[in-house]
Amino acid sequence: MLVHTVLSTHVTSVRMENDPISIIKEDHKTVEALFDEYEGLGDSADVSKKKVVDQIIEELTIHAEMEEELCYPRFKKAFNKEDDKMVDEAYVEHEGVKDLLEELKSLDARTPEFDARMQVLMEQVKHHVKEEEGELLPTVEKEIPEEELEAMGTEMMAFKADRSAA
Ligand SMILES: [Fe+2]
Ligand SMILES: [Fe+2]
Repeated sequence: MLVHTVLSTHVTSVRMENDPISIIKEDHKTVEALFDEYEGLGDSADVSKKKVVDQIIEELTIHAEMEEELCYPRFKKAFNKEDDKMVDEAYVEHEGVKDLLEELKSLDARTPEFDARMQVLMEQVKHHVKEEEGELLPTVEKEIPEEELEAMGTEMMAFKADRSAA
């Protein structure tokens, strides 16, 4: 059972160089690590807090734009009407996250409002990631052919490289 799982994962990764699912999950891990870093900082660590949050804002902004420009429209094209609802919901969740990011940009890290927004942001992102990885991405794997996924993954890598360099 375990051997089978390991083997099939290995085969997938060998066949597909730029796998959109792995790219998305890697980004999620990066953001979750930054959340842990934020939570590990004490109340008085305002400067480090601001630095970590700036990184979180940057990561989430690029990730959401990448999904909205290169992934979600293709998901909708490939999905049936019922599954489309997951993508529609994901767009709305992104809007909520982006609103919080905008608010965080203009708030002082020393205020309780800042922490309150960070707490809500972390909850919302964790919820979104859970749905994306648990429902959306498995449907993507099922419904979108491998060549198409690979082409999408190549564009995603280029998008990320381009945006990170800017
Ligand atoms: Fe995502
Ligand atoms: Fe997303």
